[in-house]
Amino acid sequence: MDSRKAVSSHNPQLVIRELESISDLRRAIQLEQQVWDLSDVDVTPLTTAIAAQAAGAFWLGAFDGTDLVGIAYAFPSLHHGRPGFHSHLLAVRDPYGHRGIGYKLKLAQRERALALGVGEITWTFDPLRSRNAHLNFAKLGVLSDKYIIDFYGPRTSSLLHANGTDRLWVTWQLGTRRVGDRLQGKEMRAEALDTLMHLEPLVRFNGDGVPVQADVPTAVSRQRIAIEIPGDIDLIERDDMPLARKWREATRAAFTAAVESGFLVREFCRSIRGQQGPGAYLLEKEEPYLH
Ligand SMILES: CC(C)(COP(=O)(O)OP(=O)(O)OC[C@H]1O[C@@H](n2cnc3c(N)ncnc32)[C@H](O)[C@@H]1OP(=O)(O)O)[C@@H](O)C(=O)NCCC(=O)NCCS
Repeated sequence: MDSRKAVSSHNPQLVIRELESISDLRRAIQLEQQVWDLSDVDVTPLTTAIAAQAAGAFWLGAFDGTDLVGIAYAFPSLHHGRPGFHSHLLAVRDPYGHRGIGYKLKLAQRERALALGVGEITWTFDPLRSRNAHLNFAKLGVLSDKYIIDFYGPRTSSLLHANGTDRLWVTWQLGTRRVGDRLQGKEMRAEALDTLMHLEPLVRFNGDGVPVQADVPTAVSRQRIAIEIPGDIDLIERDDMPLARKWREATRAAFTAAVESGFLVREFCRSIRGQQGPGAYLLEKEEPYLH
């Protein structure tokens, strides 16, 4: 199978293809700069993009006609000694969000990795971002056993990094039944919601939108943990940064304690109490099987 072939989506206007020329890569970097609102010093250097691509990285672009509207960039990696890809960038620019383009870019990454015999893609994301959590866990079926405090440092020039750069390190095991089921649209929402209903969350979204923490030793002594997050952290960061920081502190403490105690982040259910309500992660204590 030719892993370099262009893939059309269901949208006849949208084409996902490799970004190969220097001018394509320059446009990708401009899109990165635009989506994260980065200063020149924080954006991927063009020379690094070119070298990475020559060394086997995937630079994929989503095009509406000739307009580049989304990118996905993954470079070859070693995760626990296994060859894989680490996806460093996924971005869809305004006004193209919420149309499934991010999802299609991830599918294109998966297809190319599988064609090369690679079974795993890792990436990181900010666990306070409900949209990313939904895309990663509910739609793609990733798992996570690692929480990293200030992965890119306490802040960068990006507006998206104003509240620190804590990340969940996620693993997408491309050929597993779990991932296959998710890609066929078999979400575990009903089952996960049922489990979440019976748990006292380690971090709970109270009626005023403030995080309330439960007792950590009690929570980690159980088999399952729920950690709630707000439905839209962007809005909170814009209107009430001290509150956004409380969410960072509370979830950082909860994820760190849970992961250190051997919990695996398995699911995320958005809007668990109606449209405007919080979402919740479900963590389970299990034998580590990401290694
Ligand atoms: C993350 C990003 C790439 C997603 O791209 P996208 O094309 O909008 O994503 P999709 O439309 O494929 O999927 C988004 C999903 O999240 C859902 N969603 C949107 N807002 C949400 C929210 N606040 N909470 C939960 N889910 C939400 C959408 O409904 C959609 O799910 P559905 O298809 O089941 O309805 C894009 O938002 C982006 O560029 N963000 C900034 C950069 C970034 O965070 N990159 C990723 C980390 S490196």
